[in-house]
Order: sequence, then C-alpha cells, then structure tokens
Amino acid sequence: MRSNGLTNCHYFNQSPIYILFTVNIQVQKQNVALVTGSSSGIGYETSLLLAKSGFHTYASMRNLEKSKSIVEIANKEKLPLEIIQLDVNDDRSVKEAIDKIVDEDNRIDVLVNNAGYGLFGSLEDLSIEEIKAQFETNFFGVIRVTQKVLPIMRKQNSGTIVNLSSVGGRVGVPVLSAYQSTKFALEGLSESLSYELEPFGIRVVIVEPGFIRTNIMNSSIIAKKAVDRESPYFSLMQKVENHFKSMMDNPSTSQPEVVANVILQAITSENPQLRYTAGNDAATVMQAKKTMSDSEFGNLIKQQFL
Ligand SMILES: NC(=O)c1ccc[n+]([C@@H]2O[C@H](COP(=O)([O-])OP(=O)(O)OC[C@H]3O[C@@H](n4cnc5c(N)ncnc54)[C@H](OP(=O)(O)O)[C@@H]3O)[C@@H](O)[C@H]2O)c1
Repeated sequence: MRSNGLTNCHYFNQSPIYILFTVNIQVQKQNVALVTGSSSGIGYETSLLLAKSGFHTYASMRNLEKSKSIVEIANKEKLPLEIIQLDVNDDRSVKEAIDKIVDEDNRIDVLVNNAGYGLFGSLEDLSIEEIKAQFETNFFGVIRVTQKVLPIMRKQNSGTIVNLSSVGGRVGVPVLSAYQSTKFALEGLSESLSYELEPFGIRVVIVEPGFIRTNIMNSSIIAKKAVDRESPYFSLMQKVENHFKSMMDNPSTSQPEVVANVILQAITSENPQLRYTAGNDAATVMQAKKTMSDSEFGNLIKQQFL
C-alpha cells in the first residue's frame, strides 16, 4: 500500500515555547487494481472485495454482457469499481484496457491474473489445438497481461502481481494433464519472475486454490474425443468428471470469497509469501505432497480418482 509520510509542525500561539511534533499523515492516493476474468467465480468476488477494501478496481472481462450483476452491486454499494473489456487471448484488447487504466489513473498497483478455464480429456484424446488453446488462456494470457503491466509497475517502483495457480499447479491428476500443465508452467514462470522483479519493488504472489465452488465445471471444455464412448479412457473420464462435479455440488467445498480473502491478505501484507494455498482442502493436499513419497502420494490420488 502506498503512503507518504509528511512531517507536520504545530505552533501554539502566544506561547514562549512551541511544541514540535511529527505526525505520520497517510496521504493515501487510491491504489489501483486490475483483475482478469471478473465475470464469475474467484475474479468476481476478488473484484468486489478489493473495491470494498478501497482499491480503485478494474473488474475486467472478455464479455461485457456478463457485467450486469457486479455493476448492480457496485452501484448499490457505491464501490470504486469500473468494468473494462479485456480478453487475455487478444493483444489489442489487453493493450486497450491497460492504456485506458493508465490514461485514467496513471498507475496499477495490483494485477490479479485470474482468467482461466479447465480442459478435460486424457492426453491421447486431446488434440494439439485443444492443448494450445488451453495454454493460450491459462499461461500465455497471463504473460500477455503481465508484460503490458510491468513497465508501469517498474516506473512506479512498486506493485504486486497475483497469479491464480491451483493445487493442480503442484499435483498431477488423470484427465487433467493439459490444465495441470498450464498451472505447473505458471508456477515456474511466477517463481522465476519473482527474482527478476524484486529489485524493482514488484512482488509476485502465487495463489493455489483447492476445489472452489464456482462456474469452472460449466466453463470447462471437454475434449472432442473424450466424449466418444469408444475412447479407451471413457470410463476414467466419467469417474474424474463425476468426482469434480460432486465436489462442486458439495456444500462444504469452499466458496470463491475464501480465495478473494487470501488475495486481499497477500496484497496488503508488508511482506507477502511467494505462495498461498486457499480453500478447505488445499493445505492438506500440499502438506501430503510435501511429506509423502511419490508412490505414497500416488496411492492417495488413485484412491480419490480411480
Ligand atoms: N474453481 C476451482 O476449483 C479452482 C481451483 C484452482 C484454481 N482455479 C483457478 O481460478 C481461476 C478462476 O476460476 P473460477 O473457478 O473462478 O472459474 P469461473 O467461474 O469459470 O471463472 C473463470 C473466469 O475466467 C474468464 N475467462 C476465461 N477465458 C478468458 C479469456 N480469454 N479472457 C478473459 N477472461 C477469460 C471467464 O470469463 P467468461 O465468463 O467470459 O467465460 C470467467 O470470468 C482460474 O484461473 C482457475 O484455473 C479455480
């Protein structure tokens, strides 16, 4: 958070003595946040929470027709939230969105790279095009937006970039090899980037949610070949898909607000960690992954999914 410490002198009239004291006045220009994929789920809740917490928040989305609900809340609660069109797959859209923010605010303090979707299908059933499209959004989309924001943050000598990875960024799962690969790649990108940006006062934070009740199962794509009953992986695919669907329907699965709170905690921390888990199951899975051997952990995954 930005603040300017000013020294204030107060003189008492008619007094032979004066008292000089300093007050650290917080001249708090509003911090500016950009969130991608704010039309639903984690991006939606994060945009609202950041705006409620005083950030001038650009809730970006590729399809502005999906903005009605968030706009209604922002208007009703008089939140400092603006909707902006941004498709992370489209160079022009990214450039126009960021140029608009710079025109209006001349700074970006927080970037939340949230936009993403899932691709279901065993590797043999995935086409290269389906895999490339998955990487285009979940991985290259993050790079596209980050590269446009970095010169602005470098000029400010400050900023925080939050990348939405997943428990799936550290754990392999059957029929999600493409999705998990995008998140593994994002982990490597984020960790490497953190070293490059530290000298410029820019922090990188990786958020790793477990299962979160959002629209992700509806927005996920099922590979064309994976729906073919003749596929040798058809029953595996069904099992995993059903497992994910039941997790999404389970009331004890964490809500997206939980992730939004973790993001807020990270970006307002003086000294944020590189990684944060989010959601009921995430820390337990990560702990198991850390402490178990690969074969022990593999048995857990098999019990869950196979
Ligand atoms: N839910 C979970 O269990 C979970 C767990 C771990 C990590 N995550 C990650 O959390 C992030 C948010 O997912 P969610 O669960 O909130 O899912 P969601 O409800 O489906 O929201 C995904 C958001 O990404 C947007 N999006 C997709 N492609 C885009 C593009 N090309 N440009 C701009 N926006 C795009 C969607 O926009 P449209 O409405 O236009 O499709 C939507 O706003 C994703 O990166 C996901 O991988 C989710």
